Amino acid sequence: MQLQDILYSQGFGTRRVCAGLIQQGWVFVRDASSPDAEYVLCTEATADFEPEGLLLRVQGVDWPFHSKAYVLLHKPAGTECSQKPSTYPSIYTLLPLPLRQRPTKSAVQGVQAVGRLDQDTTGMLLLSDDGQFIHRLSSPKKHVPKVYQVTTKHPVDEAQVSKLLAGVVLDDDPKPVRAANCVIVDSHRLDMTLTEGKYHQVKRMIAAVGNRVEGLHRSRIGCMALPEDLAPGQWRWLDASDLVLLNSNA
Ligand code: URA
Repeated sequence: MQLQDILYSQGFGTRRVCAGLIQQGWVFVRDASSPDAEYVLCTEATADFEPEGLLLRVQGVDWPFHSKAYVLLHKPAGTECSQKPSTYPSIYTLLPLPLRQRPTKSAVQGVQAVGRLDQDTTGMLLLSDDGQFIHRLSSPKKHVPKVYQVTTKHPVDEAQVSKLLAGVVLDDDPKPVRAANCVIVDSHRLDMTLTEGKYHQVKRMIAAVGNRVEGLHRSRIGCMALPEDLAPGQWRWLDASDLVLLNSNA
């Protein structure tokens, strides 16, 4: 694959921009399969490389080639999951430009969030440009469990937990929604597992049992937990073992 096409596929701009970056000496390449290999400058836009396993260094930024992008973001509070936010900054501003510019076959460019979290919710958010992956993890029919750490205004008790597990009716739907699991952690903390993702679902379920959400954090999706070393606002690529965990129950 030509180097200009490789850069284009990773979201570094139009083919013309990518050719320019290469010709102006901004692009180094390295073969990941040979550990002793060094980054080498390549100024020929049409030079051919095997993209799988190729490490790019573009304008000083290291960028391992990914044919599909799968990333994990620790969403901080005060950010919106929309591309066009109304009040708070978009989560997409926390990602490097190439991830937001990657060309896709669909009408939208770049990676898309797997479902949405409210502006004040923190925690685990997946993004990808793989439509099937997004569908597998977000479709209510697939029942992928998501764990929320809920901080409540009023004390939690067993009666509330029983109702959440039995199912509560939300205003827009006569069919009760239930928590797949619900555990009291302390007087104002619950860990609640949901397998669907209705609008404000946790907040509305907690309100339906007479309490109120003061803080909400998503700590787990499927078999994968939010890594402790990923600080709010940080992102990282999902590796093969993460994808096995995420796909194992999806
Ligand atoms: N449920 C909510 O109420 N808000 C979220 O952000 C996620 C689940």
